[in-house]
Amino acid sequence: MPMPEFGARAGRCGKGHPPVMLRRLHHEQPESFAFTPANEDWAKQEIAKYPPGRQASAIIALLWRAQEQEGWLSKPAIESIAAMLDLPPVRALEVATFYFMFQLRPVGSVAHVQVCTTTTCMICGSDEIVDVCRDRIAPSPHQVSADGKYSWEEVECLGACANAPMVQIGKDFYEDLTSGSFSAILDSLEEGAAPTPGPQNGRFSCEPLSGPSTLADPDQGSLSETVNASVSLAAASPGNAESGMPPESGEGLS
Ligand code: FES
Repeated sequence: MPMPEFGARAGRCGKGHPPVMLRRLHHEQPESFAFTPANEDWAKQEIAKYPPGRQASAIIALLWRAQEQEGWLSKPAIESIAAMLDLPPVRALEVATFYFMFQLRPVGSVAHVQVCTTTTCMICGSDEIVDVCRDRIAPSPHQVSADGKYSWEEVECLGACANAPMVQIGKDFYEDLTSGSFSAILDSLEEGAAPTPGPQNGRFSCEPLSGPSTLADPDQGSLSETVNASVSLAAASPGNAESGMPPESGEGLS
């Protein structure tokens, strides 16, 4: 009896895209890794948050910062962070290979698009989003575009099912997508702008598209805000502040 292909369900969309469960280090690795001085200082502060003997708890934060610095996690980066935390390298490798948020191969220099293709997003049209990725970025997931700027992959549920279909780019969610609105986001990135995250169909959050049916008083609750939490967080991040988030996103935010 033939063995079922490993990962045959997980990571496949309705069009039978290849499995994405196998997570291995990239075959090409840089010689070394070092945090920038600013990130090194930040890492020391992060480690100091934990009591003696518990420094390993900082591993997710440090791996994430290394990925933000380099775009992806190389073997030297993982080993370097293990050394900072006084861990055997394999312990850090276990963490880096377990979580899909960590990229183990080079990604696009401008954006790596994580497309949710789990049930709700699939029903609501994630295949169309994948098609745009194939057409505009690269034919295969984890393949960097010819200009080196973009890459994409399929991921499992990112917890924004009420706003399906959606993608994650960096720390930001882009929700309620169509192929057209997703293409517009790629256009915006191509122009060097920082597209506004959150719902792309005019919804504030995940209220009914026709408008809220409860807590509808704009003077009470979150609807008194001009932007939702994800837009506020994106606008408040230093990178977006410098790269010019849309004015309506930044106004009134500290
Ligand atoms: S199924 Fe896509 S966010 Fe949950």
